Amino acid sequence: MTSNRGPARLTDGRGLVVIRGGRIVDPASGRDEVGDVWMEDGRMIERPSDAREETGGRRPFVIDARGKVVTPGLIDMHVHLREPGREDKETIQSGARAGSAGGFTAVACMPNTDPVIDNAEVVHFVLERARQADIKVYPIGAITKGERGEQLAEIAEMVDAGIVGISDDGKNVDDPAIMRRALEYAKMFGIPVIPHCEDMNLSAGGVMNEGVVSTVLGLKGIPNAAEEVIVARDITLTELTGSRLHIAHVSTAGSVVLIREAKRRGIAVTAEATPHHFSLTDEAVRTYDTNTKVNPPLRTARDVEAIQEGLADGTIDVIATDHAPHTIDDKAVEYDLAPFGLIGLETALGLVIARLVQTGTLSLMDAIRKMTVAPARILGLPGGTLEPGAPADVTVFDPDRQWRVTPDVFLSRSRNSPFYGWTLRGAVEYTIVDGRVSGWAMPGGEKT
Ligand code: DOR
Repeated sequence: MTSNRGPARLTDGRGLVVIRGGRIVDPASGRDEVGDVWMEDGRMIERPSDAREETGGRRPFVIDARGKVVTPGLIDMHVHLREPGREDKETIQSGARAGSAGGFTAVACMPNTDPVIDNAEVVHFVLERARQADIKVYPIGAITKGERGEQLAEIAEMVDAGIVGISDDGKNVDDPAIMRRALEYAKMFGIPVIPHCEDMNLSAGGVMNEGVVSTVLGLKGIPNAAEEVIVARDITLTELTGSRLHIAHVSTAGSVVLIREAKRRGIAVTAEATPHHFSLTDEAVRTYDTNTKVNPPLRTARDVEAIQEGLADGTIDVIATDHAPHTIDDKAVEYDLAPFGLIGLETALGLVIARLVQTGTLSLMDAIRKMTVAPARILGLPGGTLEPGAPADVTVFDPDRQWRVTPDVFLSRSRNSPFYGWTLRGAVEYTIVDGRVSGWAMPGGEKT
């Protein structure tokens, strides 16, 4: 299926670019004001003294951003790009294009590919492919070989090759001694460990949240405790080792309490939540739509409320998508048999604006912080700010444009979204990476 959106590459990254008259929201510097943003040869700059748009001199490429929001390029620290191994679901290139359409200028990709990213060779392969991609792609290496949970992966050589963190995402690290060793290793290299917290004995056979809805539907549930016992364990091990932990896709109210308390005690833990976990409950599973099958599962209204509170009070530092593409054939099976995962790169910003900013849960500044400078700091990435000298990675979006989620808006190779029919708010117009401008026109869409 093709998409009816863009792309149009408008500049090659060389020369001057100015974004005129937009609302500049830059959480790294605390700026929230209407003004111009300049860049030259791939870097953010102050206004150059010799730029003359009307009277000769150097002519910048001009973007009219009146009525639009201008932010540092969005960063998604949790995506699955499926290459190598499942290029029918997504490739580094198609995922990067979907990211660009969603306003992301950088993503960090998880290692549960085939082969798993557990040694330098696979890291080199991913980085080689990433060179041709529209946006920046940073690999995350596996914690254990093959994500099998038995032996540590080649962490030192992967760090040399360019990984920005380690994770066995999609799987728990069951053995606490191995997790401890991983934390000690990661500390030596200054990278975070990003656990997928799931007690596999408690979750065994589960396909959705354990609760009233799973009982009514007759589907096997995954209790909140499956996540929380491992969140508690990994926080304890982080305290023991003095390492840095970043908890992936937090889904339960109890996890939020545990993380809040760990932060209060000064443990170096950060956390992320996904748009689906702050937007949807297990009620969505009543349709038996397999696009609602995700791990960790969609929880209850009480959990969604706790996630939103955690985002608002800073317990949850980052919004990340867990973009997990699967083919239509993979998902067109019984609920029990479908793979976990849903796509998120192209609906993330619209859900953040519609469900968090418009509702008053987060200020626009705080929402953008969780999608820019916060993930940049956790992974040690360049970017995340519009300050002069930073890479010219910028996102321009129309905060008032509403659009309806339909299969044909997506650039991803996959279509497994649970949000069809939803009206979102906030449409990406330009994504700029190292000064290269891509224009994204949202088809239709109402301006309000
Ligand atoms: O739903 C999920 N899908 N959760 C994960 O942790 C892994 C992901 C995938 O790779 O499909």
